Amino acid sequence: MIEKNHKIVFATNNAHKLSEIRDIVGDRWQILSLADINCHDDIPETADTLEGNALLKARYIKDKYGYDCFADDTGLMVDALDGAPGVYSARYAGDSHYSKANMQLLLDNLKGVTDRKAHFSTVISLIMGNDVHMFEGRVDGCITDVPSGKGGFGYDPIFRPDGFDCTFAEMTAEDKNAISHRGRATAKLLDYLDGLF
Ligand code: IMP
Repeated sequence: MIEKNHKIVFATNNAHKLSEIRDIVGDRWQILSLADINCHDDIPETADTLEGNALLKARYIKDKYGYDCFADDTGLMVDALDGAPGVYSARYAGDSHYSKANMQLLLDNLKGVTDRKAHFSTVISLIMGNDVHMFEGRVDGCITDVPSGKGGFGYDPIFRPDGFDCTFAEMTAEDKNAISHRGRATAKLLDYLDGLF
């Protein structure tokens, strides 16, 4: 059992992710950002799996600042590329983390390839007290031949989820969140936290 207004840190610098989860949580408990706890550290993400990186980030905050904490890590896995870019999705085309370059490199590497199957996976690692919990969300789809749409971020313009005839970048944020990897992982996290009250 945890108290209402229990403070939990979300170990991210992404304002969009933060406001998204705060909207869902409302006043049930307090989600603190890294800025809220005065953490401006460059948190290491040196593992070679999504689980490893999510846990590294949550563990860093728990150990250094003492807060219960959760952290996420996401990758786009392309079947024909043996799961690349995977855990390296953010820096596929280099350390600049430039989405356009990442997408272009992926399209170049898939030139002439007919198997376009891919999936996004998000892993959330939660540390509450001494307990560690992992939540995974996945969405299957395919990589399109050319980018399409202006919404979203990252690889959204070239990812078409199964069952849809448009890319993530052509969907509303609400529609994307309802089926996305992160939406599904977050729903599992919130289900778990809800059960603690
Ligand atoms: P992160 O772990 O959430 O920072 O995600 C790592 C990288 O995966 C990002 O830099 C994006 O390139 C990509 N990515 C994560 N989530 C999405 C998404 O919902 N749509 C498209 N690309 C994403």
